[in-house]
Amino acid sequence: MRIAIIGYGKMGRAVAEAAKARSIEIAAIVDPAAPDATYKYVTREALSGADVAVDFTAPGAALANIKAVAALGKDIVVGTTGWYGSLDEARASVKQYGTGMVYSPNFSIGVSLFFRIVRDASRLMNSFPGYDPYVIEMHHRQKTDAPGGTARRLGEIVIGAVARKKRLAFDRIDGRKIDPDELHVASVRAGYYPGIHTVGFDGEADTIELVHTARSRAGFADGALAAAAWVSGRKGVYTLDDMISEMAGGDQ
Ligand SMILES: NC(=O)c1ccc[n+]([C@@H]2O[C@H](COP(=O)([O-])OP(=O)(O)OC[C@H]3O[C@@H](n4cnc5c(N)ncnc54)[C@H](OP(=O)(O)O)[C@@H]3O)[C@@H](O)[C@H]2O)c1
Repeated sequence: MRIAIIGYGKMGRAVAEAAKARSIEIAAIVDPAAPDATYKYVTREALSGADVAVDFTAPGAALANIKAVAALGKDIVVGTTGWYGSLDEARASVKQYGTGMVYSPNFSIGVSLFFRIVRDASRLMNSFPGYDPYVIEMHHRQKTDAPGGTARRLGEIVIGAVARKKRLAFDRIDGRKIDPDELHVASVRAGYYPGIHTVGFDGEADTIELVHTARSRAGFADGALAAAAWVSGRKGVYTLDDMISEMAGGDQ
């Protein structure tokens, strides 16, 4: 597999590192400003040596890249977030040119598996009202959004399975108790944590906790490269979860 990396920032560089470690050929690096990129724009020439493009750019750039890559007959993995309002337009382009696309706001395979484990655990805990669920996320102090998208998704998964919880409650709960049907999703920002997500179920006698701990951006890059290999030659639009479902033998 030969890849073109579109966007050579923090994630683009992590993808390049991961590709080198796996002897995956990098046919092109496209970035308008990075001095070590090989092309500034997505052109026929830039993508001529690549089978799949991997895009980690910016919300305003993703749709144009998706369209340009599809028009050149190449498949694409889109890690860029914040462009999902244009998903229909992206879908139309991919369909028109008969190419393939995988997108996900979180390409960590471990996080995808964690989502499934949390869903299964939450279904089980639905029958045990003595256990009260909660979500805690910890990230480095540079992170500007709280809660993060992954914590929010975890909360939605718990609410979707535990009938006694109906609403997410984010910090802060000023001067009042949490309502019984609220699920508390707490965010901690300190130090250098790449991301720790905990889903807990607290009972009177004991506590059960499920924890996912990210060590670096390498997990996102590895997942994006796995998706690149998976989508190569497929037609249509997929999420990372479609890939994980298939790898898990069709488990929903
Ligand atoms: N799905 C996941 O698992 C995952 C994980 C981490 C991050 N992300 C997302 O991935 C995106 C990139 O994150 P990052 O941390 O790598 O950001 P970053 O360090 O800012 O890198 C983005 C790079 O893309 C370049 N770029 C912008 N427009 C471009 C275009 N049209 N064509 C080619 N390159 C372009 C930027 O150049 P300039 O600096 O010149 O604009 C910059 O070098 C963000 O949307 C982030 O939320 C997703």
